[in-house]
Amino acid sequence: MQARVNGTLIRLTVNDITGCRVDAIVNAANSGLMGGGGVDGAIHRAGGPSILAECRRIVAKSGSLPAGQAVVTGGGNLPARWVVHTVGPVWHGGGRGEDELLRDAYLNSLRLAVDHGARSVAFPSISTGAYRFPLEPASGIALAAVRDFPALDALDEVVFVLFHPGDLDVYRQTWPGVFPGVELVPGTGKTR
Ligand code: APR
Repeated sequence: MQARVNGTLIRLTVNDITGCRVDAIVNAANSGLMGGGGVDGAIHRAGGPSILAECRRIVAKSGSLPAGQAVVTGGGNLPARWVVHTVGPVWHGGGRGEDELLRDAYLNSLRLAVDHGARSVAFPSISTGAYRFPLEPASGIALAAVRDFPALDALDEVVFVLFHPGDLDVYRQTWPGVFPGVELVPGTGKTR
């Protein structure tokens, strides 16, 4: 499914993000940046050791990455040129600033991707796996962050790469509340 918001194509798709042919894919990492399970593990496996080596250098220089922040490495063996590593919040019930931290993770990832010259960015559903953020509010925060990103016109395409068809259904249900009057239509866009 996809929709055009001003000049930017926003797509919702079910796929493995490691195969995504965009300029930058976003990784749902942890603060240590040493890899893990879920999408993080998949990105490091597919991208090869150069990504971990860069992550180690970043942590050695700047320390661990707080929730809501983002850093960039190269894409190693991935089709994407860059990986933006961000840390979503662990869900503790919603009273520990989780919503704001998740929004920051999306906005800081977009900012970093644009600063590197990316024109297309793919996101997984940050924090909704091991970190247990409920998918429905998380999908609204993800879509609203893209809607509100001040430099959205610098991007040709933003892709939400969901891993399960049911997750795509939730994003589709959330869509009209975030983009009223903007219709999602079937479409494959440029990237797989
Ligand atoms: N492509 C796209 N999405 C994927 C992929 C993939 N290859 N693999 C998993 N996912 C999906 C999951 O199904 C989930 O919907 O990514 C979403 C985020 O789940 P997690 O990867 O568990 O990320 P998160 O909830 O942010 O937890 C981060 O998990 O593995 C660790 O190192 C990571 O500690 C960090 C924590």
